[in-house]
Amino acid sequence: MLITNQRKKIAIKYLKNLFLNVDDGADVIQGLTTIPKTLPPKYFYDRLGSELFEKICDLPEYYPTRTETTILTKACQEIVEITGICELVELGSGSSTKTRLLLSAYDNFGKPWQYIPIDVSSEILKNTALQLHQEYNNLSILGLVGTYEQALWQLPPSSLPQRMIIFLGSTLGNFTDEQSDQLFNEVRDILTMGDYFLLGIDLQKPIEILETAYNDNQGITAAFNLNMLSHLNNCFEGNFDIDLFKHQAIYNQEKQQIEMYLSAQKSHKVRLNKLDLEITFKESESILTEISRKFKLTEMQDFLGNYRLKTVKSWTDENKYFGLILTQLCS
Ligand code: AVJ
Repeated sequence: MLITNQRKKIAIKYLKNLFLNVDDGADVIQGLTTIPKTLPPKYFYDRLGSELFEKICDLPEYYPTRTETTILTKACQEIVEITGICELVELGSGSSTKTRLLLSAYDNFGKPWQYIPIDVSSEILKNTALQLHQEYNNLSILGLVGTYEQALWQLPPSSLPQRMIIFLGSTLGNFTDEQSDQLFNEVRDILTMGDYFLLGIDLQKPIEILETAYNDNQGITAAFNLNMLSHLNNCFEGNFDIDLFKHQAIYNQEKQQIEMYLSAQKSHKVRLNKLDLEITFKESESILTEISRKFKLTEMQDFLGNYRLKTVKSWTDENKYFGLILTQLCS
């Protein structure tokens, strides 16, 4: 898809090995045949899953989105003054709602510039790109459908002298140590000296607040968690019966992470035809569908330093619930 006028372009690109990586299901086989069973969080985000996530962001119990928005509202002018005009690359852009604060500020420079949103969910990426194209006067959009790993290696050369990669919403919380190491290595390798990396992270806080945020009253988080099984049914001709599973979210104090599980309510078997896979569940056996790690702001800044990403400035809210770190690649 390509629409052009003189000032701003819009294009959506499906990354080449998307099907190999996302849909061949090797990661599903791997996760469901090891003990304890796990599934990668990227399978939350089909069309319905992305919609449910948008609803989670508006829940009274789910403080992260609201808090990060407050911080960004306060910080965005400063960020734009520090970086000057630059190309924005966003990992896991979703509906780009919070990003609009930055987009508006950069668009106000009145010069042509580019935004590259990356997401695994093509529907939400397309809809958002079309809306943003209408809203902003100077903005070209290149949407990339795929995983971060795929997208980072397939980025075109920057359209402007400087680039900023942004990774908001504490999606980093889903990553294991190994996965974050890999991501930060890639970020460092792709940026050039003086480029920026903006990271939003959820911070450690009392367990009650955390567990409430992942066990909301209306059961939206439960629906979001269970929808992963419907998504797998659709992708791989599966016969998961979602009524046989229950949502669980607990805070693991030792690892400082929320752990979301789907727990089988009775022993039964499930088939995924396309993967030629049959899985047995024992009664109350569970699948780990997500970890959501909670960080310390200064520890994260030190950690980023290991990748030559030097903190320029960081922000937090009055409760210190959430943190935003602007870093710059140094020598
Ligand atoms: C998008 C990964 C940041 O971990 O809080 C929300 C996803 N899961 N409620 C999070 C999520 C359950 C969210 N992240």
